[in-house]
Amino acid sequence: MQISELTQGFTAQFDAQPSNYFFAPGRINLIGEHTDYNGGHVFPCAISLGTYAAVRANGSGQFRFYSANFADQGILTVAIAELNVPRTNQWIDYARGMLQVLAKHGAQYSQGLDVYITGDLPDGAGLSSSASLEMLIGEIANDMYDLNVPMLDRVGYGKIVENQYIGVNSGIMDQFAIGMGEANTATFLDTNTMAYDRVPLDLGDNVILIMNTNKQRKLTDSKYNERRGECEEALARLQTKLDIPSLGAIDGDKLDEYSYVVADGTLLKRARHAVLENQRTINAKAALRAGDLNRFGRLVSASGVSLRYDYEVTGIELDTLVTAALAQPGVLGARMTGAGFGGCAIAIVAKDQAQQVAAAVGAAYAQKIGYAADFYIAEIADGPRPLEA
Ligand code: GLA
Repeated sequence: MQISELTQGFTAQFDAQPSNYFFAPGRINLIGEHTDYNGGHVFPCAISLGTYAAVRANGSGQFRFYSANFADQGILTVAIAELNVPRTNQWIDYARGMLQVLAKHGAQYSQGLDVYITGDLPDGAGLSSSASLEMLIGEIANDMYDLNVPMLDRVGYGKIVENQYIGVNSGIMDQFAIGMGEANTATFLDTNTMAYDRVPLDLGDNVILIMNTNKQRKLTDSKYNERRGECEEALARLQTKLDIPSLGAIDGDKLDEYSYVVADGTLLKRARHAVLENQRTINAKAALRAGDLNRFGRLVSASGVSLRYDYEVTGIELDTLVTAALAQPGVLGARMTGAGFGGCAIAIVAKDQAQQVAAAVGAAYAQKIGYAADFYIAEIADGPRPLEA
């Protein structure tokens, strides 16, 4: 995205020059899926696709927002004095929510801002376009009002927006992956303690191919909250015998030993995913650190198998992409990424075969599903930041 494009977009809407520019990335998750609300580990990275803004202080008592990705909604106005209105189920909720939570934690807005937003993250594709927007607004507010809110606090505020304002019971992974993003680095996070470790994403001659089903999903109408509830129920049953804070606190053997208290086929599958996925994530980080890319790839694929058969959050579109990718030469591993139910999958692919893999998977997908998938090579990027004009 060129600064000139942002300037032009801003000027066309607000009839003025912007003074500042910002960017926040999206994210992919390498492995550790549906573990963040189970006290387990995640292993995501920020990507170069993301959300951009051009901004100026407008001297009024109102924020004025325009998103080129939702152009039909035009300019949306939020009065500083009325940040507390309930959500309206529009994109503006994420911006208003973040400003509101920041204000609840002490931020003061001396005047409003005009904000032009545009992004190259496909919307609803499981690459965290919503967390990207939250973290973008956090970066804008922090910079324009000299708030000095530490990034980790902003990460937490983004989660509060999702949980309390938007109504999605999501974990901390997306905001953390974006907020703490670093180029060519994956972040290994223990969601139980919030201790984290940065691991160089050294994939040798391989790249990460993002495969977009182009099947949109909204977390608010997906089975996300249902899965979370199932894990909570499995945990509650285990806690009648075990003194544990979360499913992330036990390994596969312990789960097996106490499976009799779970005593329900569906709950056992959900718990098995949460427990084994956590172990797999720890093992995958060790494999990556040791440069054992074949093992890393197999663990990524194993995560996909577990998400498909035990956690049941894939669906025909994601399954088709992953199955087709794993059948191609040069693919070390593949699985869905993010919440599932549509959205994107990733494949770890030999750089010189990525084009062929995308073409072959794309053809298989179009034939089976009836419309095209999209493919992008992931670039692993830094977190939210101001951009130089
Ligand atoms: C969504 C949520 C995250 C995480 C993933 C699944 O992206 O926002 O908190 O639970 O799904 O791993």
